[in-house]
Amino acid sequence: MPEHISIKPIAGSCGAEIDGVDLSKPLDAQTIDEVQQAFLDHLVIFFRNQNLTPDHLKAFGQRFGELRVSDQYQPLDGHPEILEIVKEPEATDIVGNLWHCDESFLERPALGSVLHMIECPDHGGDTMFANQYAAFDALSPGMQGMLSSMRAVYSDGTLQERNKGRSLKVHPDAANRPRYEAVHPVVRTHAQTGRKSLFVHRPYTVRFEDMTTEESQPLLDFLYAHAARPEFTCRFRWNAGSVAFWDNRCAQHYALNDYSGVRRYGHRVTVIGDIPK
Ligand code: SIN
Repeated sequence: MPEHISIKPIAGSCGAEIDGVDLSKPLDAQTIDEVQQAFLDHLVIFFRNQNLTPDHLKAFGQRFGELRVSDQYQPLDGHPEILEIVKEPEATDIVGNLWHCDESFLERPALGSVLHMIECPDHGGDTMFANQYAAFDALSPGMQGMLSSMRAVYSDGTLQERNKGRSLKVHPDAANRPRYEAVHPVVRTHAQTGRKSLFVHRPYTVRFEDMTTEESQPLLDFLYAHAARPEFTCRFRWNAGSVAFWDNRCAQHYALNDYSGVRRYGHRVTVIGDIPK
């Protein structure tokens, strides 16, 4: 039982609100251990009423690993590790409006992402998360066995195409650099929990290794629909000052674009992960 924090699950499958932590203060080792355990147990954890500077956010993220400097989206001035997650009142597009995990097109995809919400609508703009251990566990033994021996190709090419002409703060060099491409297992084993999770993502998974896209697509489409079954999900209602910390190794997320005429703005850091196995 945790002694320094309290944990309140928000859904049956994943997601818990953590109370008793001020992320702007240096955290002692026991509090960090308890936060880390809650993160592993619940896949995504939430903190309310956090008043964080960019340096506080980076310091919290760095407790879990090295932060990535993004070359996909434009970073916050003076803080290359911080992405601005923004939708202006007049904008129609947002980042993350489809089920995905962060950066699976890299050789070392993101371990976790920490998003600090600074401004948000009174209603709308929630984020959903889906438990990919549960997605794997719910497959038949035959499908589990087949997928466990398969690998897939992941690329950011589709994302770059999708972002063209959209009102997003895309990094000025993103169009000119080569596309990232990586090959990963379709079912990965979490380095800390030892649990298996489904690891395919609509914007990034291009095809199965040694197969064509046409051969791969029907099974990928089944897996994308399966991965986001409502039973595997939770949905988080933001306030200004909320923080979410999600585990990209075993969860996908989806930012809802169901609001307009109001600004939603937050800062995100991304913790670099291991090579999926
Ligand atoms: C993302 O990191 O995909 C965006 C999440 C959000 O805006 O809620």
